[in-house]
Amino acid sequence: MVCKAVILAAGFGTRMKSDIPKVLHKLGERPILTWVVDSCRTAAGNAPTVVVGPDADEIRNQMAADVQYVVQEQRLGTGHAALQARHALQNDADFILIVNADLPLLEAETLKRLIDVQEGNSGPLSLLTARSPCSRGFGRILRSEEGRILGIIEEAHAAAEQLALEELNVGAYVAQAGWLWEHLSDLPLSPKGEYYLTDLVSMAAEAGQMVGSTEVGDLSEVIGINTRAHLAEAEAALRGRINRRWMLAGVTLVDPQSVYISPDVTLGKDTCILPNTHLQGNTRVGSNCRLGPNTILRDTTLGDNCTVTASVLESAVLEDDVDIGPFAHLRSGARLCRGVHMGNFGEIKNSTLKAGVKMGHFSYIGDTTVGENTNIGAGTITCNFDGERKHPTEIGAEAFIGSDTMLVAPVKIGNHARTGAGSVVTRDVPDGAVAVGVPARVVRKPDKGE
Ligand code: UD1
Ligand code: CA
Repeated sequence: MVCKAVILAAGFGTRMKSDIPKVLHKLGERPILTWVVDSCRTAAGNAPTVVVGPDADEIRNQMAADVQYVVQEQRLGTGHAALQARHALQNDADFILIVNADLPLLEAETLKRLIDVQEGNSGPLSLLTARSPCSRGFGRILRSEEGRILGIIEEAHAAAEQLALEELNVGAYVAQAGWLWEHLSDLPLSPKGEYYLTDLVSMAAEAGQMVGSTEVGDLSEVIGINTRAHLAEAEAALRGRINRRWMLAGVTLVDPQSVYISPDVTLGKDTCILPNTHLQGNTRVGSNCRLGPNTILRDTTLGDNCTVTASVLESAVLEDDVDIGPFAHLRSGARLCRGVHMGNFGEIKNSTLKAGVKMGHFSYIGDTTVGENTNIGAGTITCNFDGERKHPTEIGAEAFIGSDTMLVAPVKIGNHARTGAGSVVTRDVPDGAVAVGVPARVVRKPDKGE
């Protein structure tokens, strides 16, 4: 049995009050539509077709390359939107899964269950329902006394006793392809002047056919996004899902309410995350690390046994046993090798600190390599920018950079070299030499054999 998915995404999303299409608003750092595309792909086993409005280049640019599109030129309702996919799909599938694009938290397994229900249904159509006293504007399921589904009434058109019904139409359907394509063009015009997909249900029921259904247990799956308040609600639900998954995988979240872990992040066992910590983008954290409180890691990789306290790390790499913060800032290209210690008020950009380097207080290190076990004194600055270009600094191994040293790049400090407190180094300092003053002069040459 071949099933193909159609995602309805051509609506205006007016209730978002936005210049950005509703389905491109971000949930867990990804566009809303990406979530639906992924769950449809998993459930149906192939890439979905998305119904978009005219001028949907932005949507196309942000989706996976295998997604197909059909255009609904005029927004004439969900039934009319689904009909636009007929030409593209009518000979391709036995079943069509139709899902509203604004249901990003629906799980693939739930959609799979809906497909299974329809495969076992003698009638042409099955749909997903949810039971809740809080309708959120969803259509209500109408059933006969014996429990057969008779139709769906939209909230806007429902009478008082219908409004009291607690069984809701989620907005996901599976239909026999032949029946669907034949009946979509027969949908009546609604009082609102739209063709409602939901009217297929009464069409089937009136012809004496069975409409199947399956209920979603976890109501967080059916948070539909119509407003930004709904978006925030979905974000909180997604966060809860992700945090629970990591706790079950052996990560301690001291206060899960205040921990924000993006969907693509990975974490090792026995890592402990303290409050107000944000792990974003493609961040990878090893085991037995301690992160936070008040820490942001974006696109950053950490080895095992690292500690990061109250700091911001962007596109940085930490090997094992690195300890940072509080109040450190690592920027793109910062690489801290095994056992590096970086204390407070430091900034590192595009630089490698080799194993065992210590940089305790108030420093800026940019476009620099620092050799093993070198000590960077308080207040050290690499002056890497001359107003026009950036220049590199090289500091050797086992060197000692005195407090408040200015290293005017390009410049090289040798292995075992030292600089005096407050020196402004404008020329290279050889291995083992000591340089002091402004501008710095070498005061002691290396001893023979040093
Ligand atoms: C729809 C259902 C409602 C259900 C609810 C749950 C209908 C008539 N009503 O209402 O029963 O409870 O979803 O999610 O279907 N769209 C188009 N073209 C259009 C109009 C809409 O592609 O011309 C798309 C939208 O982009 C959206 C989806 O269809 O992703 C649903 O449209 P929306 O306006 O959000 O419908 P609801 O009022 O939520
Ligand atoms: Ca909706």
